[in-house]
Formats: sequence, structure tokens, C-alpha cells
Amino acid sequence: MREFVTIVHMNADFLLAPSILSADFSELGASLELIRKKGGDWVHIDVMDGHFVPNLTLGAPIVKALRPKSVLPFDVHLMVSNPGDHIEAFADAGADYITFHIEAAIHANRLISRIRECGAKPGISIVPSTPVSVLREVLPLVDLVLVMTVNPGFGGQSLIPSCLEKVRELKKMKQECDFSYIVSVDGGVNSRTLPAVLDAGTDVVVSGSAFFSGELEI
Ligand code: DX5
Ligand code: ZN
Repeated sequence: MREFVTIVHMNADFLLAPSILSADFSELGASLELIRKKGGDWVHIDVMDGHFVPNLTLGAPIVKALRPKSVLPFDVHLMVSNPGDHIEAFADAGADYITFHIEAAIHANRLISRIRECGAKPGISIVPSTPVSVLREVLPLVDLVLVMTVNPGFGGQSLIPSCLEKVRELKKMKQECDFSYIVSVDGGVNSRTLPAVLDAGTDVVVSGSAFFSGELEI
């Protein structure tokens, strides 16, 4: 399993995780090469089931087919209603991080354990209307907390600035309680919003439309 090391981009330490949601779906292998060439550190993979969010994307067989095409860590973001149905399949497909939504999980602790048992790193995510306090019991158990800064389902939306307060809150709690998670921000990151995202203390920056349109040059 790869270790977490931040990379210096534009004089700031963070990991860039381009989301293939905005890539050319007919050329996903080539998109992975583009991510590597343009300075991406992770590959963010948005899995949508048409139920938890009103959109459908891709499943574990596609992730498995893509795995040999990139050496970068695969950061799988499950936006699905029943994440427990898919843990083993995505771990087997080569996911390095598997992040699910607290809003979709009753027995989150069990899912976190299962992700770890499969050899992947567990992440937990919250949509904009969910407060950080809901995560209190799972924060000691996860490796990543993904703060959604748009309502999930689509790329190209505008970042909701108030969500960045959650990043600050999570970083403060991490320090006070000696937790080990890293914090990821997902949704609406572009060259205009990036400074505020980094100022909040974000470790992993997800970018879909801005990265693939060339607007966000790192
Ligand atoms: C949204 C996804 C995001 C999305 C981000 O539901 O989770 O990862 O790809 O896209 P942009 O960067 O265009 O907001
Ligand atoms: Zn995502």
C-alpha cells in the first residue's frame, strides 16, 4: 500500500486528484496518462448508482480494466445507496482508497473494517447538508475524510464556500485528538476557488471539469 506524501504544487503542499468524471469516457486509458503527465497525484473515480445521486457512471469492472493503465493511487468515491454491496469488488479491482457516504450507511464502522480487511484505505464523506458532528464516532477509524463542496451527482457545479469551514473543523479535531485522517475537498475546485480550498487546510484536492478543460494548471 502506498504511503501518504504530499507533493509541492505551486508552493503549497497538497495532493491533486483529478476526477475522471470529466474525462473522455471513450478514452479513459488515455485520460489516466494525461492525469499523470499534467501532475495528478491520485486518480479520483466517481461511482454513481442513479439512486443515491441522480446519475450513473461506472462500476468495478471498469476500475479493474483501468488499473494496469496507471501507477497512481485510485481514489474511489462511492456515491451509492448500498456501499456495503460493493466494497470487495472495488478492492479487488485495485482501489487504494474506498470512500463511502455516511448518509448511505447505517453500520459505518462495519464497512470501515471491511474496507481495511480487503487491503484498501477507508474514507468517509459528507454532502453539504451534513455536519461534521455526524462523523464524530468514525473519525478515529478512517484514513480519509472527503468533504463535498457541491451536492454530489454532477461535475461542473459551483463550490459552496461555507463547506470549507468543515475542513477547518476537521483539521482542528485531527490535531486536538491526534487522529490520522487526511482531508479531501471535492466539487467546484478551479483556479479561482483553489486558494480558499488550500487556505482551509485541504490535503487532497479533487478536480474534474477545471482539470480536464485545462483551466486548472498545476
Ligand atoms: C461530484 C463528484 C466530483 C466531481 C467534481 O458529485 O463527486 O468528484 O467530479 O467535479 P468538478 O471538479 O467539476 O466539480
Ligand atoms: Zn468525487
